[in-house]
Amino acid sequence: MLYSEKVMDHFMNPRNVGTIEDADGIGEVGNAKCGDIMKIYLKINDDVISDVKFNTFGCGSAIASSSIATEMIKGKTVAEALTLSNKAVVDALDGLPPEKIHCSVLAEEAVKLAIEDYHQKQAVSP
Ligand code: FES
Repeated sequence: MLYSEKVMDHFMNPRNVGTIEDADGIGEVGNAKCGDIMKIYLKINDDVISDVKFNTFGCGSAIASSSIATEMIKGKTVAEALTLSNKAVVDALDGLPPEKIHCSVLAEEAVKLAIEDYHQKQAVSP
């Protein structure tokens, strides 16, 4: 079978889908080749990610990657979330086919961009 049960589960029942109106950080990334887009919203309190939501317009692996990535960073500190790698996402999904690895990279990038956005907003209005 091409996809692990974990991938199928997170694709069929993605966790944390949606948007956060007053998000503290938003990260949007896209892959020019496949045209898929991923957007991650963070709510951060006292340096801890208290809520996270995502919207992904993309393939099943991108949806599964963003779903599991949101679960992995929820409740973590900003510093911990910054260490999330696409490899950790792939491992948590029990693997992805080689041609789908770039989908997990989107999740890592979206989280990093959202945190960058958070830091920028902090700098403007501490
Ligand atoms: Fe592009 Fe999955 S095929 S994100």
